[in-house]
Order: sequence, then structure tokens, then C-alpha cells
Amino acid sequence: MRFRPAVKDDLDRLLGCVVDEPISWAHPERLLSYVESRNYGYDRIWLATDDDTDDILARAVWWSFPDGARPLALDCLYVHPSVGDRVGVAADLLRHAHAAFGRAPEYHVFVPNGWRGDPAATAAVGWRWEAAGRAGLTEELERLRYAWTAGDAPVPEPPDRLVFRGEEDDEVFVEAFRRVAAGSLDFATRQALRTMDPVEQAREDVRDCASMRGERSWWRLAYDKGGDLVGVALPSANDAGPVVGYLGVVPEQRGHGYVDDLLAEITRFHAERGVQRIVADTDSGNVPMARAFERGGYRNFAIRLVLSADPAAP
Ligand SMILES: CC(C)(COP(=O)(O)OP(=O)(O)OC[C@H]1O[C@@H](n2cnc3c(N)ncnc32)[C@H](O)[C@@H]1OP(=O)(O)O)[C@@H](O)C(=O)NCCC(=O)NCCS
Repeated sequence: MRFRPAVKDDLDRLLGCVVDEPISWAHPERLLSYVESRNYGYDRIWLATDDDTDDILARAVWWSFPDGARPLALDCLYVHPSVGDRVGVAADLLRHAHAAFGRAPEYHVFVPNGWRGDPAATAAVGWRWEAAGRAGLTEELERLRYAWTAGDAPVPEPPDRLVFRGEEDDEVFVEAFRRVAAGSLDFATRQALRTMDPVEQAREDVRDCASMRGERSWWRLAYDKGGDLVGVALPSANDAGPVVGYLGVVPEQRGHGYVDDLLAEITRFHAERGVQRIVADTDSGNVPMARAFERGGYRNFAIRLVLSADPAAP
């Protein structure tokens, strides 16, 4: 068996890989559109091929921003049904790719609500989870996916306790992000703060938000009537459409329900530009945020599993 990145000539055979399990995967339509948009690149699709026939025995596909310097998330892990040890082959494939990338990007798996009660879904997740773990993606996180749909839920009134202002200086957002990250219940933020300086972590988050499809001019800082900072509200968008983006309350202002005002501002902002559906994710452990989505008219429609490497692992 040979492990190598794909090349353009592999395209037909890549389109012939079929996952028939109830799990997200890089199906032909997605593959073609993301190759075209450069969210997928051949150097970020890795293959295990047969030594004699060069047939594809396994395939791993990573997603990145079109001009991104590095792969950000594993989107699809496929092993041909003829392979006996699919966990072993998939783990080897990931290990080879991680060595070439110099890092182990997260694996994002989308599954329906209630997947744990569905044997086909647990089987589809199970072997991939084991393979990812063997390749170093040992940290597990479940994120709840929410959507607000126009017509199903009312457009919130403008919050009157807070004043929202734009701000052109990224450094002001870096400082606000740094404050909001303190005591966060968000897994990725907590993991990052284990190894990074808080200002560096905030700067990276601001950079990541700026790489999204939403306009930078949509970002807002929220102040109370006394002029003190309450938090940040960043409506945004990704490839699939409008998203909540990011919001947070500084620690000294928590516990007053301001999360509802920030979310209302984001929902109202998108709704006023005619958006029909707004999507958002939060960790299942970020209970204050999940409750705020439910109060704000957002419905939980799916789950995103995120498997990642321990940042403190050697
Ligand atoms: C999630 C967040 C916005 C909630 O803000 P909030 O305005 O304090 O929310 P609420 O007022 O509804 O809080 C409800 C309860 O949860 C508690 N709570 C809120 N955030 C908390 C935190 N980070 N840690 C522990 N408890 C928290 C509140 O104190 C309150 O407790 P109480 O009912 O005993 O008074 C805030 O925790 C935050 O900014 N976190 C960091 C950024 C983040 O996670 N953003 C969402 C990313 S998807």
C-alpha cells in the first residue's frame, strides 16, 4: 500500500469513492465545488493506493480557506469496503498526512440528532473515531448546531439596555476578545489558552473571524448605558450562508442575560438584510450559550463532533 497526496489526474477516481453510511462526507458535488473554490486542494487530499493497480483504498479530504496556508479541518474519511483493517489503514493514512502537514487538523463529523441511538450512525462514527484517535486526535467534543429561520421565529426588537458600536481598529477587538475569553466554557478557547498567551490567542481568533465570509464592518462592540464594555457581537457568514459568528460577554458583566441582547442584535442584523436562515454552533458544555439560542428562537437541528489533538501533547 502506498500513501500519497492526490494529483489532478486522480479526479475521476476520487469522484468514484462512495460513502453510504449516515455521516458527512465529500460527495461528488461537494468535492467538485470545493476543488473549484479551492477550499479543497489536491495536496490536501491524501490517498492510500494499491501498490499494483493504484486503485484508491482509502481517502482523507481536508478543508481550508481558499487562500489558507494550512488545512483546517478533516472533512471526509473513506475506506474501500474491500479493506479488512479499515481502522488501521485510515489511521496510517492520517498519520502520513499529518507528518506532511506538520500538524494534525481537527476532524469535523456531522451527524443527526439522536445519533447515539442509531446503530448505523454509531458504527459510522465509531471506526472513524478510533482511527482518528490512533492518529493523535484524542480530544472529543460535541457541538450543537442551531438554526434561526425567518417566519418560524420572530425578529427580535433592538436591545435597549446596550449601545452597539462598530470599531475599525482590530487591536480594540483583540483586547475585547481577550477579556471575553477569560472563564469561557468554550472548549477550543480553553484548549488554546492552555498553551498560548491570552493576547496571542485573541489575535488569532480575530484573524480567523476576519477570514470568514462576513464583512468586517458588521462587527460590533456592546456597551452598557454607563459606557462600560459588555461584550462583542460579530454576525458573519461561511460557505454555507449567514452565521451568528462570535459573541461573548466580559466576565464582570456575566449573569445579567446580556447574552440574549448580543444574540438578538446579531439575529436582527441578519434578518434586516433579508436573511432567511442563520446557523450557529456551540459546545454542548456551553450551557449558558445553548440556553440563549433556545430562548432566541434557534432550533437544534444536528450535531457536529470535533476530534482534535491535545495541544499540550508532545
Ligand atoms: C456564553 C456567555 C456569552 C453567556 O453570557 P451571560 O450574559 O453571562 O449569560 P447569562 O446571563 O444567561 O448566564 C446564565 C447563567 O450562566 C452563568 N454563566 C455565564 N457564563 C458563564 C461562564 N463562562 N462560566 C460559568 N458560568 C457562566 C451566569 O453567571 C448565570 O448564572 P446564574 O443563573 O446562576 O446567575 C458568556 O459565558 C461568554 O461570554 N462566554 C465566553 C464566550 C463564549 O463562550 N461565546 C459563545 C461561543 S459559541
